Amino acid sequence: MTTMSAPGAPRPASSDWWRSAVIYQVYPRSFADGNGDGTGDLAGVRSRLGYLRDLGVDAIWYTPWYASPLADGGYDVRDYRTIDPAFGTLEDAEALIAEAREAGIRTIVDVVPNHISSEHEWFRAALAAGPGSPERERFWFHDGKGAGGAEMPTRWVSSFQGDTWTRTTNPDGTPGQWYLHLFTPEQPDVNWNHPDVRREHEDVLRFWFDRGAAGIRIDSAALIVKDPGLPEVPEAPGPGEHPHLDRDEIHDIYRSWRRVADAYDEPRVLVGEVWLADHERFAQYLRPDEMHTAFNFDFMARPWDAKELRESIRTTLEAHAPVGAPATWVLSNHDITRPVTRYGREDSSFDFAAKRFGTPTDLELGRRRARAAALLVAALPGALYVYQGDELGLPEADVPREAIQDPMHFRSGGVDPGRDGCRVPLPWARTGSSLGFGPDGGADPWLPQPAAWADLSVEAQDGDPASMLTLYRRTLHLRRDLPALHTAPLTWLDHGGDDVLAFTRGDRFACVVNLGTEPVPLPAGATVLLASGPADGVVGPDTAVWLETAH
Ligand code: NOJ
Repeated sequence: MTTMSAPGAPRPASSDWWRSAVIYQVYPRSFADGNGDGTGDLAGVRSRLGYLRDLGVDAIWYTPWYASPLADGGYDVRDYRTIDPAFGTLEDAEALIAEAREAGIRTIVDVVPNHISSEHEWFRAALAAGPGSPERERFWFHDGKGAGGAEMPTRWVSSFQGDTWTRTTNPDGTPGQWYLHLFTPEQPDVNWNHPDVRREHEDVLRFWFDRGAAGIRIDSAALIVKDPGLPEVPEAPGPGEHPHLDRDEIHDIYRSWRRVADAYDEPRVLVGEVWLADHERFAQYLRPDEMHTAFNFDFMARPWDAKELRESIRTTLEAHAPVGAPATWVLSNHDITRPVTRYGREDSSFDFAAKRFGTPTDLELGRRRARAAALLVAALPGALYVYQGDELGLPEADVPREAIQDPMHFRSGGVDPGRDGCRVPLPWARTGSSLGFGPDGGADPWLPQPAAWADLSVEAQDGDPASMLTLYRRTLHLRRDLPALHTAPLTWLDHGGDDVLAFTRGDRFACVVNLGTEPVPLPAGATVLLASGPADGVVGPDTAVWLETAH
């Protein structure tokens, strides 16, 4: 393997690290269990920092680690300033952030501004204080419609299916007001028109930035502002017309968060979870005084099809260019069917509404494509997200129904398997009661691991030249070493026909991905740097190659 880095070649300044960073997503509950209670924890992550450093990541994003009743895997925060005891202590988090930084890895924490836990002290106070109280103004409490207020204030539908309002009971036992929750009833929405809500969240940002967090991931970022008139959702809402999605007033909030982030010597970074089909509206969140980047879900939702992926890459880059923000590339996360499973399906696109038990998949095909996809996304301009376990090629696990914990499953009436299949604890070793997730003989992992995962464990893949782990390590290291992959724009290459994605970055690097069924020749004079499968003079079907090109 050759590399093309020239001594002293330009790299982004360190304050711009996020523009082309590799960010690894840790789902703390399932990464590594330090104390053997069956739940992952911060001690577990600390013991595996060397693994992440060697993998070649620049930052870790942690899904919520705060005190939480875990009604939605921690996206129901009871207290932002406390670590959930199942994961450790605040001191553990501070030590982890510092140790990671010494290993060259920055930390991104998750902030969940749309809602808090129904066990948060604000919500408990609001319930106790009753209708018309200032405590209730921090939320969306409302009288019901119809006789006796028995009908909910709107018919808005939850992102988790079902209703978005729950009725409270007055202290005397009579039915009371309703409160809004776009997700589960255990996640009441807060009212962003209230100054306490703004002040508290900015304090939370400072709390974590002061402890060394390099940035935040903003949960459900486009949902947080509501139309106080509470109208129904129009049939085809125009831009800014939806009562609880992507409202124009939202941008003022992120502008003030940006001022908080920019006040630090190394400015902190805002990463938005923004699910919006409209690319232009999406890009508005990335104007220079708002967020730095946002997850690109369009690419992740597309099927394994050259036309679709080319279109997604093109529109993504075009949408980002006017605001000067880098794109992000995301193959999966803790909400999404694992790529190895998804890409082996007849319909390999992703859509929450289409998730069903027992959808057939060809895992060998899926694995080949997931390997090629890993090379493709790592070669695109912008930042790259890697969800824990994708570097091992884990498939979506078939979690037995009786073990499922995800509220999405229950709210679908048991039709949707939910998201636990991508949240199963990682296999680190070939043997042991939890395949090295926790100490041997410790409690069973909180979700059962498939026995076949012994062969997908870190131990099994380490040093195997054909393994997914080896491919990821090589890819991330080479990406780090190639200046063009940090700075050069993408130029499409006309090579191999419609089923092939081919592009250059700079004048010496090319990536060719064959999504068709026939082999395609390598471009003349090119040398293979890295390949996701056999690449002997040709690029086979479902294979990607990185090339050093003649110049
Ligand atoms: C998006 C998060 O990724 C998901 O896991 C969570 O359930 C919802 N937001 C609600 O917080």
